[in-house]
Amino acid sequence: MKKKSYNFDTAVCSIYFTDKNSIFNELDFSAGLMVFDKNTRPLFDEAAGDDCLVLKPGEKHKTLKNMEKIIAAALEKGFGRDSVFIACGGGVICDMTAFAASVYMRGARLVLVPTTLLSMIDASFGGKTGVDYKQYKNIIGTFYPAERISICTDFLQKLPEAEILNGLAEAVKHAMLGDEQLLVLLEKNRDKILARDTELLQEIVERSIAVKAAIVEQDLRESGVRMHLNLGHTFAHALETVTGFKNWPHGRAVAWGLGRALTAGRMLGLTDRNYADRIIALLELYGYRLNAEKIKPELLAAAMANDKKKRGGEVNFVLQKTLAGTFIQKLEKEFVLEVLAETVS
Ligand SMILES: NC(=O)c1ccc[n+]([C@@H]2O[C@H](COP(=O)([O-])OP(=O)(O)OC[C@H]3O[C@@H](n4cnc5c(N)ncnc54)[C@H](O)[C@@H]3O)[C@@H](O)[C@H]2O)c1
Repeated sequence: MKKKSYNFDTAVCSIYFTDKNSIFNELDFSAGLMVFDKNTRPLFDEAAGDDCLVLKPGEKHKTLKNMEKIIAAALEKGFGRDSVFIACGGGVICDMTAFAASVYMRGARLVLVPTTLLSMIDASFGGKTGVDYKQYKNIIGTFYPAERISICTDFLQKLPEAEILNGLAEAVKHAMLGDEQLLVLLEKNRDKILARDTELLQEIVERSIAVKAAIVEQDLRESGVRMHLNLGHTFAHALETVTGFKNWPHGRAVAWGLGRALTAGRMLGLTDRNYADRIIALLELYGYRLNAEKIKPELLAAAMANDKKKRGGEVNFVLQKTLAGTFIQKLEKEFVLEVLAETVS
């Protein structure tokens, strides 16, 4: 077992890279409220009793109503502020349970056991909690780092490949933000990674978290450098909105967005050509689509403008000169339309 601790404002978050049995032995599941979804409940058979909450899986169930169910279950158990909420699932279950823990009696204890690659690499770590409301994703939430995150890549053995690819897109992003060795690891081990090599997956998760931690420890509330984590995401969010969160799962939209960010940088003459080609080749190696020919650039640009209105600010694009050479730039709409019309390959 490996342990790493990170500091956020006044909170300390400890991450344990461990195996299933250790998770079952170390966490006193009987004392906490365990929250699963229908697909993650069977992963914990040995450990979870009947006294747990099982919610419906998927983004459409990331709602205030389900968050209320978590609060109601805690009340029923007679929870105090020192009781522990334990989320066992992907990003949906982790975000929702964390949100409930953060507001229960103004903040109860929180442990996360992420079970998807995306939630190990990204969603469980960094303190963002939340639920969706109407058509808005994560519009209600808090910053509330978990006190403990227990990560076991054995859980990924039966995770569908589409979900593995969702997580890997964020790993590529983290490599771009500051880990050349992670990039090489992703370049050289595609087949083993997709075959769920547990040790390689753990190294990807560890390295990804280290990159994210170096950023989030400086800026938990996203008032500065944390915005770099949005690399590729301004484009990706627009694509998800225009396609109604259907044909482009988040990771695939992020991969497309990374391609667009590199294209924008290249067209401005700021992004190193060899670096951009290297990342594009890596994204193609994993089969990500880098062109969305059927989507009108005008619709995507309009979605970005709408997002800007909602956030009461400007559309900021995170771009790169090269690996770890990240900067933020406002782009004119006409230029964005040209970037969106470009074929990336
Ligand atoms: N808080 C953050 O910083 C942050 C960062 C990134 C994403 N997110 C959020 O994360 C969510 C997406 O997370 P996700 O991709 O994990 O989605 P998810 O939680 O919906 O999980 C995807 C699917 O995989 C199933 N599943 C989970 N673990 C499994 C396993 N081990 N084996 C088989 N099936 C399993 C789930 O039941 C679900 O059907 C979004 O709501 C997003 O907003 C949050």
